[in-house]
Amino acid sequence: MKKEVVVSGIRSTGNLHLGNYFGAIKNFVRMQHEHNCFFFIADYHSLTTHPTPADLHANVRQVLVEYLACGIDPDACTIYVQSDLPEVAELYLLLNMNAYVGELERSTTFKEKIRKHPDNINAGVLTYPVLMAADILIHRALKVPVGKDQEQHLEMARTFGNRFNRMYKTDLFPEPEAFNYGTSLVKIPGLDGSGKMGKSEGEGNAIFLADPPDVIRKKVMRAVTDQGPTVENQPKAEAIENIFMLMKVVSPESTYQAFSDQYNTMKIRYGDMKKQLAEDIITFTTPFREKINELLKDEKTIHTIATQGAEKARVSASATLSAARKAIGFQRF
Ligand code: TRP
Repeated sequence: MKKEVVVSGIRSTGNLHLGNYFGAIKNFVRMQHEHNCFFFIADYHSLTTHPTPADLHANVRQVLVEYLACGIDPDACTIYVQSDLPEVAELYLLLNMNAYVGELERSTTFKEKIRKHPDNINAGVLTYPVLMAADILIHRALKVPVGKDQEQHLEMARTFGNRFNRMYKTDLFPEPEAFNYGTSLVKIPGLDGSGKMGKSEGEGNAIFLADPPDVIRKKVMRAVTDQGPTVENQPKAEAIENIFMLMKVVSPESTYQAFSDQYNTMKIRYGDMKKQLAEDIITFTTPFREKINELLKDEKTIHTIATQGAEKARVSASATLSAARKAIGFQRF
């Protein structure tokens, strides 16, 4: 049976944290064995915020290495850098001709960008969803593992694909849909007492897979807590829920249970709990950190994986692009 095509892109905007791992990457690692997966590093997308040439390259390299360290396996899936596929840029041009400015302006992410960065509304920001549609349609993907925040973009990808099919009387593009394994997606909270883990939430809120042990200890010890429970079985405040949640994903079940019992019987000392949590996070992230550091030094492996990934991805991309060009009416003389 032919495996379903899966595409997902990862913007190259810095180091991966525990939230990325439990919220997305774990799913990718699982999917790669069951589907025909294309995972790419969205470096064209990162241009909307104008990185310096040195940063652009270093970021792509870092993300590539971190994904490999997490278990994305170039033998099980196709991992590549977006800008290595000129076919994506060409499909983006073709799709742009049928994307209406009005519908792009109505996208929530676009409106959000205008609100936050009124001084940098370039055309690339407006047409970001068209580029994302090109990423997905270029492999004719059926499933796209993304978070809730990307659902509107996915809806637009379906619109552009369907519109193309209608205009050129073809069935070239299937409808891609958002995908996750349901319950296995966990939202990891940050350390500052509220909300989710993220790098834009401020220094100390996120624990990066590449953080050395002393940095992890420092961040965890500074995590927000409260005065402690004053009655037995007291409901936990959000900040306390959060550190328990982190413990749930990284510590042995018995450790979690022990601290949970201490909380319920009002015997808990948050200092002890945080010490334990820090050590368990270190145990969890150490294999990732070691692999990341090892790969960062291995220029040859990075080169081979990126080159072979691009070659594999271009086979699928060029087939789709030829079909799209043909449908539109382009012919060679
Ligand atoms: N927009 C996505 C994000 O911000 C990244 C992305 C770009 C993507 N192209 C994609 C995701 C194609 C899935 C498929 O996270």
